[in-house]
This record gives sequence, structure tokens and C-alpha cells, in this order.
Amino acid sequence: MCDHSKNIYKPHLATIEAIRDETPDIRSFRLVFQDEELRNSFSFRAGQFAEYSAFGYGESTFCIASSPTRKGYIECCFRAVGRVTDALRRLEVGDAIGVRGPYGNSFPIEQFEGKNLVFVAGGIALPPLRTLIWNCLDLRERFGEITIVYGARSEDDLVYKHELKEWEARPDVRLVKTVDPGGNGPAWDGRVGFVPTILEEAAPSAANTIALVCGPPIMIKFTLPVLEKLGFSDEQIYTTLENRMKCGLGKCGRCNVGNVYVCKDGPVFTAAQVKAMPQEF
Ligand SMILES: Cc1cc2nc3c(=O)[nH]c(=O)nc-3n(C[C@H](O)[C@H](O)[C@H](O)COP(=O)(O)OP(=O)(O)OC[C@H]3O[C@@H](n4cnc5c(N)ncnc54)[C@H](O)[C@@H]3O)c2cc1C
Ligand code: FES
Repeated sequence: MCDHSKNIYKPHLATIEAIRDETPDIRSFRLVFQDEELRNSFSFRAGQFAEYSAFGYGESTFCIASSPTRKGYIECCFRAVGRVTDALRRLEVGDAIGVRGPYGNSFPIEQFEGKNLVFVAGGIALPPLRTLIWNCLDLRERFGEITIVYGARSEDDLVYKHELKEWEARPDVRLVKTVDPGGNGPAWDGRVGFVPTILEEAAPSAANTIALVCGPPIMIKFTLPVLEKLGFSDEQIYTTLENRMKCGLGKCGRCNVGNVYVCKDGPVFTAAQVKAMPQEF
């Protein structure tokens, strides 16, 4: 959506329309582009990301967390961990930020049609899958069974709590939510255990199924063998990588793994593609 005949690094102005605190340190923004034409024409695909700028501080990379089926706004969700994200966190409803994108490849959702989908997410890594979950739910008849296994360290650390309730209430979604041992309060009605263990217990069938996995490296490390045990091939498993980025456009070389530009060739890869990358993954 960027106009590359002009300055490719120039962000579009967007206004923060709504703010929601997902957890004590994770915040969601709903953003609307100030340019009305762009607001109406902006399109992206699930899995793509954008560069969000806090003026005077710099840019941060976040996935676009809303669904491409929901028009007129985009959402992002971020944890304040440093200079830019701290500055973004200080902003209020009505303030302006810069957005450039969408960048990167996306989930090949058309190839998922007619298949069962198993989403496996940990902690703050639900947003990159949430965009695809809503995309699929908004086109529900095109997909088979939808299972979501989502876990966090504690109840407080679960993001999109209101949507977890919504998914749980739907007859056409199987939500398995879990918190790490010790992270549950007396009213917790989900599972207790680490995501890979709970996934193994939930035992989704690999037949005609795509697994979409996003989480901290330790979760991914222990989830891949579980999927393999359940019969998933590396080609049936998709993930998104979050290498540090700068340009987002394949120009600065910041995000390379070997000759793969994560910003341009990714961030969505199959497990087979990730395993073919140099050892740092
Ligand atoms: C494709 C992609 C999608 C992303 N989506 C999201 C998202 O939806 N929500 C979200 O909160 N974050 C996401 N991130 C990570 C996010 O970009 C960084 O956390 C953010 O840019 C940090 O900026 P900062 O200036 O506040 O922190 P800095 O001051 O730059 O860094 C603070 C700390 O965070 C670490 N850090 C910064 N960037 C990364 C990174 N990419 N991976 C691991 N550690 C990092 C630094 O090493 C440092 O320890 C994504 C990253 C990528 C590449
Ligand atoms: S972030 Fe610049 S090349 Fe990928």
C-alpha cells in the first residue's frame, strides 16, 4: 500500500481510535488512517506486519493483529520493552502515530481452504495468529475444524481475554486454554500445563490439517516434536519469525538469516523452510 514512487520510508499518519490493556504490560491500539482514501483502500493479508512510529523516538515492527476482513481500521498489540514501545505506550486516544506497510509475505489462506486448522500460540504471540483466526472465522464455511491451543504464564498474561470467551462460546471452535503451573487462580476454568504438553493431550488429528504455531522460541522448540509425534509433516506447519528489523523492505540487511530476508521472504515460513535456514534457528 506504500506509494513507492515517493519516499518509501515515509509513514502514513494514523490516529489512535481506541486503546485496550490486554495485560498489565501489553496494550492494543485500534488505528485509523487520517487520509480518508487510504482508510478505505488500505488492504493487507493475514501474517503481514507494519512499521509503527512514535514521533521523535523511532519505529517498531508489529504484526497487523486485526483481520483483513474488517475494513476501515487496523489493530496492533505490543509489549513495552524499550525506547519506541515505551513511547507508544505513553500515547492516548486521539494521538497520531506513523504507520508504513503492509510488509512481508502472508499465510497462504487460500491453500488452507477445506482443511482443519490447529492454532498453537503462547503469551504475546497470539496477535500474529489472531489476524488469521478472525480471517478464517469470518469465512468460516471455507474451513474444516478449528482448534486453538493458547497458553500463557498466568491468567493475567493471556491476551485478548474477551475474545477467548467469544471463541470458547462458539460451537464451531475448539479452544483449549492453559496457564503454566502456578499461574492459575481459584476461578481458572482452563487447563494447567505448558503449551506443548496440553497440545499433546488435546491430540488434534494431523489428517488434512494445517498447524499454525507462534510463540517464544522455547515453546516452538518443544511444540514441533509434539506435532511431529501427532503425525504433522514440516510442510503442514507454519510459523512467523520476529527477527529484529529496520527497513522492513529487504534493503538494510538487518533481518537476514543466510540469504533469506525475513522481512521480505517472511515473516511466514513453514517448519521445513525454518529448518533449512542456518543453525541460529
Ligand atoms: C515481523 C515482526 C513482528 C512483530 N510483532 C510484534 C507484535 O505484534 N507485538 C510486539 O510487542 N512485538 C512484536 N515484534 C517485536 C517488536 O518489534 C520489538 O519488541 C520492538 O520493536 C522493540 O522496540 P523498542 O524500541 O521498544 O525496544 P528496543 O529498545 O529496541 O529493545 C528493547 C529490548 O527488546 C529486544 N528486542 C527488540 N526487538 C526485538 C525482536 N524483534 N526480537 C526479540 N527481541 C527484540 C531488544 O534486544 C532489547 O532487549 C515483532 C517483530 C517482528 C520482526
Ligand atoms: S529489515 Fe531491512 S532488509 Fe529486512
